[in-house]
Amino acid sequence: MDHFLYKNNELQAEDCQVAQLAQTYGTPLYIYSRATLERHWHAFDRAVANHPHLICYAVKANSNIAVLNVLARLGSGFDIVSGGELSRVIEAGGSPDKVVFSGVGKTVAEMEMALNLGIHCFNVESAAELEQLNLVAVRLGKVAPVSLRVNPDVDAGTHPYISTGLKENKFGIAMDEAEAIFARANSLPGLKVKGVDCHIGSQLTEIQPFLDAMDRMLALIDRLAEQGINIEHFDVGGGLGVTYDDETPPQPDVYAAALLERLGGRALKLIFEPGRAIAANAGIFVTQVLYLKGNSDKHFALVDGAMNDLIRPSLYSAWQNIIPVKPREGDTRNYDIVGPVCETGDFLGKNRELNLDTGDFLAVRSSGAYGFTMSSNYNSRPRAAEIMVDGSRAHLIREREKLSQLWQGEQLLP
Ligand code: LLP
Repeated sequence: MDHFLYKNNELQAEDCQVAQLAQTYGTPLYIYSRATLERHWHAFDRAVANHPHLICYAVKANSNIAVLNVLARLGSGFDIVSGGELSRVIEAGGSPDKVVFSGVGKTVAEMEMALNLGIHCFNVESAAELEQLNLVAVRLGKVAPVSLRVNPDVDAGTHPYISTGLKENKFGIAMDEAEAIFARANSLPGLKVKGVDCHIGSQLTEIQPFLDAMDRMLALIDRLAEQGINIEHFDVGGGLGVTYDDETPPQPDVYAAALLERLGGRALKLIFEPGRAIAANAGIFVTQVLYLKGNSDKHFALVDGAMNDLIRPSLYSAWQNIIPVKPREGDTRNYDIVGPVCETGDFLGKNRELNLDTGDFLAVRSSGAYGFTMSSNYNSRPRAAEIMVDGSRAHLIREREKLSQLWQGEQLLP
């Protein structure tokens, strides 16, 4: 459940009128709901309340510092993939000791930064990275807490671009090499083996792939114990899907209960890295209709939001619901909702039955995750403003980019 509902035939964001926000702050505009973010985070935290755990929100889903701060205040940990994300977490008041650092290509500078801040764990993705991390830690006189990301080779059944747990993907260490690499990690002076992790993909709507992965990972953990390598935590990654259309992904409590049952009384601490499940339905993207046009085959609504603002429809053919902020009575038409960017692939939605007029505001639902964070300045379009509503109050959490910011840092030749 989220807090974007119609009241008196007008879309609300919590107790704020979306049309009013669009008028005040302009469009295109991202609007997030604090109550929804908190509700989703608590759903995870409560689901594992009786078991040692850490919820590490995946920063890549939505990294605005106000979003991170709202979650940090709840006691959230964070899953990061870059020095930039780590800096955002610190800026937002997050605790470094609740940070796990994922990603296949950590640089020496990023390793140094994370070691100096004292993060919870490095999720190491290759033997080569392990050696590098050891060298950096020894040089700094530190011991790096490590987990190895193991690829369980299960098919998450999701879009190929966001499926990560198969052998053919670049992520993680192959299961058949895992024990040898763990033994190596255990022998290096700059490392302390803490955990095992996996992440099999994103937008999973079935529970079975998670359970298959878990079974393989638990079997590995048991084999490691026989070798005298004691694992303290199991990081199950993120990936729990959300409802964009008619998907029925398991709720966090059902998902967590199934994992806990599989754990079979092992004392392993569980780490979760949810991104989408917390942020997606806590945000909408609001855009205004600039022009309506049509020919004998098609009707287009040209809107002021585009693929540079919200790329999921273009990049993954993702379907996100597009709803009128103030629905009109009367007949609908079949529209493609397209942006001003000079690409045929620039659309927010196709074949949508809507009754529209120029100037209308539309809300693209489920845009709180992988929306703004994937936006760009393509076609020299300033990035959108971001608002967070909290009851009847709205806070500007990121100003709309100014035109002069577009060439910030660029230089003319002498
Ligand atoms: N942990 C790791 C190691 C990850 O790679 C990811 C996402 C997550 C956690 C969080 O996954 P989530 O709970 O959000 O599914 N841009 C794509 C999604 C890319 C996901 C990348 N990794 C999209 O818009 O669908």
